[in-house]
Amino acid sequence: MKNAVYQKCLNPDCRATYDVGDPLFACQKCGDLLDVCYEWGRLNVPTSLKDFETKWVTRNRPLDRSGVWRFQELLPFCSSEYCLTVGEGQTILQSNDEVACYAGSDPGNLFLQYEGMNPSGSFKDNGMAAGVSHARMVGAEHVACASTGNTSASLALYAHTCGMKCTVFIGSGKIAYGKLSQALDYGAQTIQIQGDFDDCMRQVQDVCRQLKLYLVNSLNPFRLEGQKTIMFRVLEALRWQVPDWIIVPGGNLGNSSAFGKAFVELKELGLIDRIPRLAVINATGANTLFELYENQGLRFNGGHVASEEICKYYKKLDADGYRPDTLASAIEISRPVNLKKCLRALEVCNGVVREVSDTDILDAKAQIGLHGLGCEPASAASVAGLKLLRAQGVIESREQVVCILTGHQLKDPNCTVSYHMDTQGEFSNRPVEVANDLDAVIAEIQK
Ligand code: F0G
Repeated sequence: MKNAVYQKCLNPDCRATYDVGDPLFACQKCGDLLDVCYEWGRLNVPTSLKDFETKWVTRNRPLDRSGVWRFQELLPFCSSEYCLTVGEGQTILQSNDEVACYAGSDPGNLFLQYEGMNPSGSFKDNGMAAGVSHARMVGAEHVACASTGNTSASLALYAHTCGMKCTVFIGSGKIAYGKLSQALDYGAQTIQIQGDFDDCMRQVQDVCRQLKLYLVNSLNPFRLEGQKTIMFRVLEALRWQVPDWIIVPGGNLGNSSAFGKAFVELKELGLIDRIPRLAVINATGANTLFELYENQGLRFNGGHVASEEICKYYKKLDADGYRPDTLASAIEISRPVNLKKCLRALEVCNGVVREVSDTDILDAKAQIGLHGLGCEPASAASVAGLKLLRAQGVIESREQVVCILTGHQLKDPNCTVSYHMDTQGEFSNRPVEVANDLDAVIAEIQK
């Protein structure tokens, strides 16, 4: 009998299946993306999301404390002996009326899901807890990823926690220092490619194939299983009520893909009665999804995605010598590997895609810092996106919205400091220089 958990190709004309223990990152028959699939009827799944509350009492157990593994029954691909946790997912959902006011939502209707509270400071830890556990399960000894920074920081942390060798590929120039410092400190072999993230992504796949390294980018379907739990925790914080909208920055499109899968599965299991709408926000300087989805009308279409349209678009990027360019370096990606899965998420969540400028991102970031817990630039695309969608009347002020703040404020201090030093920023908070003299200091404070 087939295993109750297996991997399946996304392509409806292929639908090849693979064992849960196969360390793959693409279908071996057609090269398309893979999903982790569950035959829920043969698995032990709670009948109500409230059942997960019993784990609050057993928080002394590391797996029950983990914001990923306390939902293990909804990502049951490995037995507990392989589950790795470093304390991920102790995040909060912050109701934020000041940021709501900035974005044009009614008080009480905006929630910020702060993923910066994760051990390595970004949402990636949700995915790594799952991905590296799968790596352990299949006996991998050496893991690798390409990264704009956060994936490498997170992978380096998880790999070093369980004694695996870790190689990370980063592009030259753009990685924020907070992230690079983490990868170096956690002992990753750090390979800086002369190129951008998209170049690194290509290299790492070839290297993993040749050297049989275990790839932990979001092409890896097990990583996305971990990222589903961000939505489970949002629901948990809302007392298991479904919000109207989820807004998330879009880079390689792993999060949006994982969120869509989470909601489809919860609905299928009868654990929620409706699916929220999804808004994915690109930076203007890295807007492939926006261009293809909103301007060219590309759709999931039951899995029959017009791949030739995507190829044509990428060929044009090459012909134009296009390079993505945004201060939100985490999402500076022009060939998002999870594009098809994200299209599926947009289909099931009746989603929209928007692009926001770096100025809008940085202003939103300053507002989040001023009134909330702070975040890195890419994260603020979610709030900038909400402001735009409110202005366009797509989201109403009375609708309940959750913006995902994907990474910690301290990831990219250079960007923050240059915004505040730059008097052009709408919310810049410049430091003032004063002589080393008590009277001058007091005069300045009392100005
Ligand atoms: N926000 C932050 C802070 C990120 O680091 C990333 C992705 C995203 C948003 C985009 O998420 O890829 O799921 O759409 N960072 C990756 C990395 C690419 O290498 O750290 P996505």
